[in-house]
Amino acid sequence: MNKEDIFKKLSSFGLELQIFDILESTNKTAKELSFEKEQALVIAKEQTGGRGRLGRSFYSPEGGAYFSLLLRPELSPQKTLNITTAAAVAVCRAIEKLSNKNPQIKWVNDVFIKGKKVCGILCESAFSREGTKMDYAVLGIGANLFPPEHGFPEDIKHIADSIFEKPSEELYFDFIFETVNEFLKMYNSLEKADFLEEYKERSFLIGKEISFIKNGQNKTATVLDIEKSFGLVVKYKDGSVETLATGEVTIGSGNIKT
Ligand code: BTN
Repeated sequence: MNKEDIFKKLSSFGLELQIFDILESTNKTAKELSFEKEQALVIAKEQTGGRGRLGRSFYSPEGGAYFSLLLRPELSPQKTLNITTAAAVAVCRAIEKLSNKNPQIKWVNDVFIKGKKVCGILCESAFSREGTKMDYAVLGIGANLFPPEHGFPEDIKHIADSIFEKPSEELYFDFIFETVNEFLKMYNSLEKADFLEEYKERSFLIGKEISFIKNGQNKTATVLDIEKSFGLVVKYKDGSVETLATGEVTIGSGNIKT
């Protein structure tokens, strides 16, 4: 697919598309657009201030796909997580369609191939003053499509990888289109999250030992399940079971981190 094709296809979905060579952050631009547009898709070939989860930055050189959907879902505020979990499923479907790779989801919404992160997702939402209704959501997806020209930086090269080996503009637009298309297929059923089973099948944490920090303490537990609100059900060595609502976990009991 080329640039013209994606413009045509997305406008037939009622999505206005804006493509930039470089932006600070597509999430930032999409949020600014929320004052004037109902919904939109913002794409940048490179970001100078890509934002990650938990206030981190997201390495965004040329070679990756960085895009943000401005949406107005009919969704109760407590179901906000369904947007990112659906997006993780959509990214996996797109990767499978366009490659022979086997993508998996690391709870909550990172996409991994062979144990390395290839895609991160950051959803930022705004609510009505009473907090009862979602005003808008900006769903930002950052995928390492092709190897960066100078390789990944030292601090992430052992944990990050790219999806495809060789740069191709066609694959670039195909990937963005397929991801958006797959996500939109789930859009009207975000509230009931009927993609939960698929999300679980794609998760590579179930059955694994993980570690995480809770109330300042290092914990180790085994993952039993992911429940319907996408909480991670874990079992501690003493047999007690707990559900983690959200957060960050690492695979292994401490030394081996993913
Ligand atoms: C993470 O892995 O912590 C989430 C990364 C999300 C990155 C994407 S790239 C497009 C959009 N714009 C941003 O500034 N962030 C998101």
